Parts: sequence; C-alpha cells; structure tokens
Amino acid sequence: MNNGSQARLRFNPLLSPQRSVTPMIPTETLDPTAEGLARAAALLRQGALVAFPTETVYGLGGDARDDLAVARIFEAKGRPRFNPLIVHVPDLEAARRYAVVDARAESVAAAFWPGPLTLVLPLRADSGLSALVTADLDSVAIRVPAHPVAQALLRAFGGPLAAPSANPSGRVSPTRAAHVLEGLSGRIAAVVDGGSCAVGVESTILGLVDAPSLLRPGGIAVEQLEALLGPLPTGGNAHKPNAPGQLASHYAPAAPVRLNATDWEAHEIRVGFGAGRSDLNLSPAADLVEAAANLFHTLREADAKAGPHGKIAFAPIPETGLGRAINDRLRRAAAPRP
Ligand code: TXA
Ligand code: MG
Repeated sequence: MNNGSQARLRFNPLLSPQRSVTPMIPTETLDPTAEGLARAAALLRQGALVAFPTETVYGLGGDARDDLAVARIFEAKGRPRFNPLIVHVPDLEAARRYAVVDARAESVAAAFWPGPLTLVLPLRADSGLSALVTADLDSVAIRVPAHPVAQALLRAFGGPLAAPSANPSGRVSPTRAAHVLEGLSGRIAAVVDGGSCAVGVESTILGLVDAPSLLRPGGIAVEQLEALLGPLPTGGNAHKPNAPGQLASHYAPAAPVRLNATDWEAHEIRVGFGAGRSDLNLSPAADLVEAAANLFHTLREADAKAGPHGKIAFAPIPETGLGRAINDRLRRAAAPRP
C-alpha cells in the first residue's frame, strides 16, 4: 500500500500555489512490529501525524504537546471547528501528568481503564498540553486505550497523543487501516495497521469536572457506569459535542474584538496574518496551519496587551482550509457577551 515514490514525484513544493494548503505527502503503512512502531514514534516526534488502531476506532494521532502537530490534525480532517480532542495516555500514572485525578476519578479509572472510556477532568496548570487540544478549556479529556498496538505506540512514543477518529470530518469513523487510507491517504505521514477494531464505536465520555455526567454514549454501557456512580445526567455538552464555545469555561478575551480589520483604529492591538504592520501576527508567512497553532495563545497575549481600555483587531483570515475553524473561533471571541 506504500505509494511513496509516486506521491513524491507528484509534489513539488516550488509549484505549490498556497503555503496554507498542505501538499500531498506519501502515507506509509507500518506493521505493528518493534521496527514499525519505532518509525511511527519517530514521525510523531517530528510533529507528523500517524493513525493507529484502538479497540474503538482508528485514531489520528499527533503529539498533544505540539501546537503545530495538533493544528495539522484539524487540517488533515478538514474540521470546520476547533472542538477539544481526546488525549491518549498508556496508564493512570501518565494521566496524572495532565489532569487532576481525584479519588472519584481514580475509582472509575480502576474499574474501566484501560478500555473504551474517556474521562473529562480538570486540566493541570502545568500540563504542557497544546491549548488547541483542549480548545483552551480548563478541562481535558483523557483516555487509556486497551488495544495492544495503541499501548505499544504510546510507550514507544513516550508522550500524550491527541487522537480524534482517523476520518475526514463528516465521514464514518474507520475501523480498519484501509478505511483510514481511503479518507486520509496523502494527508498523513503513516498508518499503523493493527487489523480491525473490536468495539467499532467511539469511547463513552464521562464528565468528572463537577457532578458526574454522560457527555457522549459509546463503547462502555451507561448502565455499567451507573452501577458505580449512580444515575448519570446527560451533560449539556452531549447534544452539541462539537461546540465547546458553548461551554461556560471557554476562554473569551475581556477586550472587545473586531474581525476582518483592513485599517486600524487607535488603542487597538493589531493582530496580523501575512505581511503588513501588526503588533502580533498569527502567521507572518500567511500559513493557516501556523496561524491555527498560534491562535489561542495569541488571543490571550492580545488581551493582556490591550489592557482594561484597549481593543483587539484581527486582519482578515481566508475562509479556506483551517481558516474556517480559525474564523469560527474568532467569531465566538468577537460575539457580544452578557
Ligand atoms: O474512541 C474514541 O474516543 C476515539 C479513539 C480514536 O480513541 N477518539 C475520539 O476522539 O473520538 P475525539 O477527539 O474525536 O473526541 C472528541 C470529543 C469532543 O467532541 C467532545 O465531545 C469531547 O471529546 N471532549 C474533549 N475534550 C472535552 C472537554 N474538555 N470537555 C468536554 N468534552 C470534551
Ligand atoms: Mg469522529
């Protein structure tokens, strides 16, 4: 399935019309051997994307600490929104590095990890995770997959992997390596072929930031969770799992935000995209992946610079590729607040 040489011939970076459109890359198919996993881990360390099997569906993995790698996940999937992603770790000990795990979370983890259950927990201030992976929330979704290949890859890589299902946005989740290639060949560095996934639906997501709530039904039956936790209300997020902007804790700048600014007013912090005068710049090279990677910390930085009386103005961002997700997030930041 490795068509590397063909893809290499097709792609000439000098002929690439727009830096913001990721060129086709040859997608390697790797076996889940020590050698294949070492190659996958090396690609992940470079910030490249590697799809891998879990017991639920194939995940599209990228280093959860690397803003650019996470931006590439959204780009490869063509997601129109920066919804928060699940962070995959090999065990409970690793989970503690990124999330606050209290006694209640510990007992749920003891019962269901490793397995198809994701816990949304308070984010640790020193987590080191990319703000894109949590959509800048102060909580994080953590999963310890049971699949031996996912486990082996996480250990070979030695870090947390952000991994939504490995399909283009709006398409069915993949349960075989061939499905991954159908949707994402040429857009990701590699897929580790671990055969077919046993569960076939995504993990159940349990919110444990406040009272336990069911955020998404999935691979672990709700009844099993309720046996441990009592009746579970359905979280407000469950019907709109892709709309983290509606979560109360979502970061919004205090300063008023103006979009598509082509001129600049006094007392405005100018956030540029591409060439031209600006105070901060999402991407001087007008690269949408770089702009996405910079988005959340630039919003905070602009807010801090604006101070109590200042305003923030963003240069226009093209409404293509990742630009759609960037503009979606900026429109939320600019929306009138109560
Ligand atoms: O089975 C699975 O869970 C698969 C495999 C690959 O592990 N992964 C998966 O990941 O479905 P993902 O990233 O597509 O799941 C994202 C969903 C979001 O849409 C949201 O519902 C929830 O996880 N989520 C993530 N972080 C959250 C947070 N901080 N608060 C609330 N919900 C969150
Ligand atoms: Mg999905």
